[in-house]
Amino acid sequence: MVKAVFPGTFDPPTVGHLDIITRAAAAFDELIVATGVNQSKNRLFGPQERIEMLTELVEPFPNVRIGSFEGLVVDYCRAEGAGVMVKGLRSAADYDYELQMAQLNRRMTGVDTFFLPTAPEHGFISSSWVKEIARLGGDVSTFVTPAVHARLLNTL
Ligand code: PNS
Repeated sequence: MVKAVFPGTFDPPTVGHLDIITRAAAAFDELIVATGVNQSKNRLFGPQERIEMLTELVEPFPNVRIGSFEGLVVDYCRAEGAGVMVKGLRSAADYDYELQMAQLNRRMTGVDTFFLPTAPEHGFISSSWVKEIARLGGDVSTFVTPAVHARLLNTL
């Protein structure tokens, strides 16, 4: 029984995140999609709203649930009894950043990281760009689910 954590900020969750959730849910027995609530980043949505959006997103997957964490993601993984994390990789830049984080996390606690290559049709999508494009009046309706899109339009 392999329990995995897919951590992220998810501000907001995108169709790229949904693709990783779909594939990780098929690969692992149990998946916890966990949103980080550390204060360090400039967020559009508060923790509760991100949890609500994620809860709607994972509704079709019986082996997926939502969590949230403050502090180190590896401490959260250990508290949940999850031995592995899942991360999506869009580019070499993601890889360079994530590789170092994965090595640090494994050295600190033994929690290992599994990387999934993003589907090519989602490789250019990021929460940050979605927020910027939406703020400036661009159409982001194909980058997020309809439910997230509605919340974005209400929040901006
Ligand atoms: O969606 P993001 O912004 O790429 O998610 C980043 C996140 C939240 C997964 C990452 O920043 C994280 O794990 N933060 C928790 C703090 C932590 O554990 N830092 C040490 C990493 S070696």
